[in-house]
Amino acid sequence: MNKLIYLYFIYLFFGCFYQVNGQIKNVPPNQEVQAIELLALTKGPSYNVVCTWLTCAPLNDGSGNYTITIIDLSLVNGIKSAFLDIDFSVFVNVTKIKLGQGIYASKLFDSLTNLTSLSILEIDTFNSTYTDSSLVMPKTMYQITINNLGTKLGVNFFNSPAYWVAIYNGLPGLELPSSFPPNFVLNEKLLTLQLPVRPGSGFPNNIGEAFKNLNVLFLYIQNGKFDSSYTDFNFPTFSQPFYNLTKLSINFINFDRNLNIPYPYQSWTFPNGLLNISRNLNEFYIINNGFNKSNTNSYLDFSFLKTDNFVLSLGGGDNRYYSPLESCDYIRCTTKPCLVLPPNSKLSLNWCYLNISTIDFRNVSHFTMNQNKLYQVFPVDSFNFNQENYYIDIRNNNFSGVVPQDFCYLKIGNFYFGNNDFTSAPTCFSCLGTGYFGNFDPNIVSVNPWAANFTNSGSNCNSFSLINQYNNVAKTDGSSIITIYGKDFGWYTKDPLYIRVGVPNKYLELYVPRGIGSGSQSTEFSNNKFEVFNYTYEQPVISSFYYNNSDNPQLLIRGTGFSFIGNNNVTIDGTLYTFSQAISYIHNGSIYPTVRLNNFPNGNKFTVSINVGGNISKNVTFFLNSTSGGGSTTSDSSTTGSTATGSTTTGSTTTGSTTTSNSSPSPSTSNDNSPDHPSSSSNLIVSISSFLCILILILY
Ligand SMILES: *[C@@H]1O[C@H](CO)[C@@H](O)[C@H](O)[C@H]1NC(C)=O
Ligand SMILES: *[C@@H]1O[C@H](CO)[C@@H](O)[C@H](O)[C@H]1NC(C)=O
Ligand SMILES: *[C@@H]1O[C@H](CO)[C@@H](O)[C@H](O)[C@H]1NC(C)=O
Ligand SMILES: *[C@@H]1O[C@H](CO)[C@@H](O)[C@H](O)[C@H]1NC(C)=O
Ligand SMILES: *[C@@H]1O[C@H](CO)[C@@H](O)[C@H](O)[C@H]1NC(C)=O
Ligand SMILES: *[C@@H]1O[C@H](CO)[C@@H](O)[C@H](O)[C@H]1NC(C)=O
Ligand SMILES: *[C@@H]1O[C@H](CO)[C@@H](O)[C@H](O)[C@H]1NC(C)=O
Ligand SMILES: *[C@@H]1O[C@H](CO)[C@@H](O)[C@H](O)[C@H]1NC(C)=O
Ligand SMILES: *[C@@H]1O[C@H](CO)[C@@H](O)[C@H](O)[C@H]1NC(C)=O
Ligand SMILES: *[C@@H]1O[C@H](CO)[C@@H](O)[C@H](O)[C@H]1NC(C)=O
Ligand SMILES: *[C@@H]1O[C@H](CO)[C@@H](O)[C@H](O)[C@H]1NC(C)=O
Ligand SMILES: *[C@@H]1O[C@H](CO)[C@@H](O)[C@H](O)[C@H]1NC(C)=O
Repeated sequence: MNKLIYLYFIYLFFGCFYQVNGQIKNVPPNQEVQAIELLALTKGPSYNVVCTWLTCAPLNDGSGNYTITIIDLSLVNGIKSAFLDIDFSVFVNVTKIKLGQGIYASKLFDSLTNLTSLSILEIDTFNSTYTDSSLVMPKTMYQITINNLGTKLGVNFFNSPAYWVAIYNGLPGLELPSSFPPNFVLNEKLLTLQLPVRPGSGFPNNIGEAFKNLNVLFLYIQNGKFDSSYTDFNFPTFSQPFYNLTKLSINFINFDRNLNIPYPYQSWTFPNGLLNISRNLNEFYIINNGFNKSNTNSYLDFSFLKTDNFVLSLGGGDNRYYSPLESCDYIRCTTKPCLVLPPNSKLSLNWCYLNISTIDFRNVSHFTMNQNKLYQVFPVDSFNFNQENYYIDIRNNNFSGVVPQDFCYLKIGNFYFGNNDFTSAPTCFSCLGTGYFGNFDPNIVSVNPWAANFTNSGSNCNSFSLINQYNNVAKTDGSSIITIYGKDFGWYTKDPLYIRVGVPNKYLELYVPRGIGSGSQSTEFSNNKFEVFNYTYEQPVISSFYYNNSDNPQLLIRGTGFSFIGNNNVTIDGTLYTFSQAISYIHNGSIYPTVRLNNFPNGNKFTVSINVGGNISKNVTFFLNSTSGGGSTTSDSSTTGSTATGSTTTGSTTTGSTTTSNSSPSPSTSNDNSPDHPSSSSNLIVSISSFLCILILILY
């Protein structure tokens, strides 16, 4: 019986599965006809089960039929190209159309108006004409990506809520609107726009106005004279600034990536308007050759930008071999400064054959320059290495001179200078294998200049030294960092828990843990040298006390140098009392360790000292003012609390006053619910209400 039920379920499961899987999903006849043609042209005649090759969803008209929602086609079975004369407007429910290479859907753009659910359009090529005047882009449009476009685009094409419109390559026939009309509905959704510009394409002169929220603009300037039909054209102008543009990338296309051939190219004087295209710009890229030397020799000044993190990347790039001496021409000027940047800029200049001595690097905190083949002395003084996390990568250039000593002080991973013509490097690099900072490539430099002095890997730190005199007095609360200077000790310590590198090859930082008496920490360095660093903890000082003269009297002592790692030993009139471990109490930005004792002995004048790990404080005299403190809680406590002074101490007149003279005097008042600082008169003042307050804080 059980077996039967079991089999029945198996039947049900597989039966249902088979049915669903095997069911023919019908789509409305008009979709069916067009879809089968689509599939036949791109895949072959046997691909005629529509919903197997295209994505379908149930129609909601009660017919039980399906409707096509995604068309994602690429050519298979050796088919090289497919010319689809198909009316896409029958696919009323389609949300995504993706057409791969070799598929030419001539009526696609004219169908867009009817595709009221379309949100993603991703096609390789569109090179047919369409009627822009009757185009109404779907309100659902989200993302448009076209690899190759050869048509005359009208303004309606841009009138959609898409946040992303990317057209990478312009084919002959590409035309862009020359401007957006005043009545153009501003597209506030568009954040990223990528457009090609080619001979005859034109460029809208007011896109800053039409796309108010645009964040990212990529231009592909097709200035390569690939064939004789090339005609010169104007570089785009931007009559309206952008409000929100943060990233601008200008990519000159004059290199055939398939054939690996560079071509002659048109070039333009660097347009001044590019500099003020947006005040919010924080990334600016120019890739390949296209701008030529400015006639006026004027420099590129980006210092007006608002950003505090500007990225400027200028590169000779693809056509570096074709015209190396022209690459980055626009920043090759003779007067200084050629290039001015806002603070904290990242600058990257690759494949630029530049004399960099005219560039102002003061605000550059991250610099990359590779493949600059101009022989020149590295202009050390132009740089400001003294910036947080400074980074410099100057591998594979032809810099001569001396590797600057400043490189020793940069973080590991933040400097690379191999494959240059430097004749010497600072001794600190004996703490790193040459393999690390950029070896030498015999194709680039003939002699490995480092070989004589430095090993290829590993480290010996030949000139290791540390200065043994350092301020070795530490606080007991664990807040001290002792600085130990040295030279050529490398970039790291092997036990970085307490001893860390502050600035490589310059100083170490010893993070002193909580403790008493004295202590030491040790570490090994990259050359396996082992070093021990001793320190002593500070002398304890009692600076004030609080006394609660109630049925259950309590005493609280404040000061510095108390033990934070165990009970404190306090001597009161010759008798040793155990106080609690100190805790940090923060008041007005100051930190006071406090210790507490229940059951204060009888009397009104006490001599008190504290012994912390053998470091004994000076004696302090506590006076309890007998006219006060009788009641347990008083809200009008003002200064009626007991008073103690350290100045009349027997045996020591310097206690208290010396340690408290710098504290701000703040006698407690009736409104002051918190403990006051010791006054400069060295009176140790007690306020009952403030004591209670501390007590609550401590107990809490
Ligand atoms: C459902 O599909 C079938 C087969 O294609 C078709 O004959 C029928 O007209 C369709 N019904 C609707 C409402 O589209
Ligand atoms: C398909 O599109 C038609 C016409 O726009 C619409 O009435 C219908 O609700 C859509 N069906 C689905 C499943 O989206
Ligand atoms: C496309 O939309 C237009 C106007 O709404 C309509 O006249 C036409 O019939 C639609 N085409 C298709 C194939 O549904
Ligand atoms: C589109 O490009 C293909 C491939 O180059 C070409 O065969 C076709 O004629 C072009 N179509 C138009 C309308 O120019
Ligand atoms: C674009 O800039 C305007 C004006 O500064 C601002 O109101 C808007 O929020 C910005 N849009 C985006 C997407 O940052
Ligand atoms: C940029 O500055 C130039 C010269 O100062 C000016 O002529 C131009 O109108 C400005 N362009 C924009 C977009 O602000
Ligand atoms: C630089 O650009 C200007 C303006 O397009 C042009 O007249 C000039 O010939 C170009 N110079 C070079 C060396 O290409
Ligand atoms: C190697 O060390 C010697 C002696 O200190 C020095 O003169 C020479 O410049 C160094 N060579 C390099 C490449 O650093
Ligand atoms: C550090 O302390 C240890 C033991 O306390 C002592 O042997 C050593 O000489 C001290 N080192 C220095 C540099 O003072
Ligand atoms: C207090 O005295 C005890 C017993 O002699 C000792 O173990 C402890 O280390 C002392 N505490 C401090 C902070 O010196
Ligand atoms: C006790 O304190 C009160 C109020 O601060 C003060 O007036 C009085 O002189 C003090 N008495 C002694 C003995 O210090
Ligand atoms: C502190 O006072 C005690 C007696 O109460 C005395 O034995 C000790 O020598 C004094 N210490 C100093 C440093 O004066």
